Amino acid sequence: MRAPSTDPLAGTQRLTTPGAWLKFAEWLYAEQDLALGQIATSAHDEALYLILHTLEIPMDSDESVLTQKLTTTQRSALTEVFRRRVVEHTPAAYITHEAWLNDLRFYVDERVLIPRSYFLEIIPEHLDVLLPKDTPITHVVDVCTGSGCLAILLAKHFPKALVDGVDLSPDALEVAKINVLTHKLTKRVTLHASDVFDAVPPVKYDLILSNPPYEPSAHCDALPQEFKNEPRLALDGGGDGLDIIRKLLRQSRDRLKPHGIVLIEVGGLGAAMDREFAKLKPQWLMTADGSNCVCLITAASLKHWRG
Ligand SMILES: C[S@@+](CC[C@H](N)C(=O)[O-])C[C@H]1O[C@@H](n2cnc3c(N)ncnc32)[C@H](O)[C@@H]1O
Repeated sequence: MRAPSTDPLAGTQRLTTPGAWLKFAEWLYAEQDLALGQIATSAHDEALYLILHTLEIPMDSDESVLTQKLTTTQRSALTEVFRRRVVEHTPAAYITHEAWLNDLRFYVDERVLIPRSYFLEIIPEHLDVLLPKDTPITHVVDVCTGSGCLAILLAKHFPKALVDGVDLSPDALEVAKINVLTHKLTKRVTLHASDVFDAVPPVKYDLILSNPPYEPSAHCDALPQEFKNEPRLALDGGGDGLDIIRKLLRQSRDRLKPHGIVLIEVGGLGAAMDREFAKLKPQWLMTADGSNCVCLITAASLKHWRG
């Protein structure tokens, strides 16, 4: 007697339509306990995206595309994509090499964190009220830029500003360079290889923005494989998660214009920030899902701080 197949993708040649694939993939995500949260929060949305992307069907197509007959080549292509997603736990965005922030497409691969920052909401909705209206915004910086996505969003939001993007990882900066080129922003976005501000020329900024690594190291060890497939350097904030944030705040003191602000996304470190940086009076920005994990610190409060 033949042993039952342990290949979770065995028999997928019998799935003859995208709709059948979608149903199967949703079942597979649950059965294999796949982690979500990098580009989508439901198995349905992520699997549908992977299916349409693989078949080169536009994302805004109507449901009738789900009943079209698949060729053998298309079925094999879907099997290979879901094999990578299910067996290797490769994040969907590393398979398609793209991540979408609103209507902007960014190239991504294993060298960078998959973009999913609250700054996507904060930049268009909060920035203009947080910065002075009567002062032109000329210099802003995205520290820990990764794929460069936030530096690019900043450049688009402040069309007259010069934007610096800083990262310690030369690999991440290669990806950021691709995105800056694709978005035609090479004249205004400059990338720097630097440990926080160590190697950045001494510019004073209106805005310092950062989505740094902030997971405590022990949390990184316990992450699902999908997140472990992202660069450890992008996630690991040291023993208590605050290593990069401490350095960023210390160095920001001399990097801000008098009206300047620092905005930092800190994940679950809100209480730790309030404790350690009470003298800096962190203010927490409201985000739509109630997470409120982005804090604002002013140049005025940093000026007298001896942290
Ligand atoms: C959480 S990712 C953020 C990437 C991107 N800003 C985003 O929101 O998608 C953090 C980034 O910080 C970089 N990084 C880690 N330590 C750093 C340091 N000491 N100085 C500068 N960048 C650092 C990592 O290489 C990674 O690209």
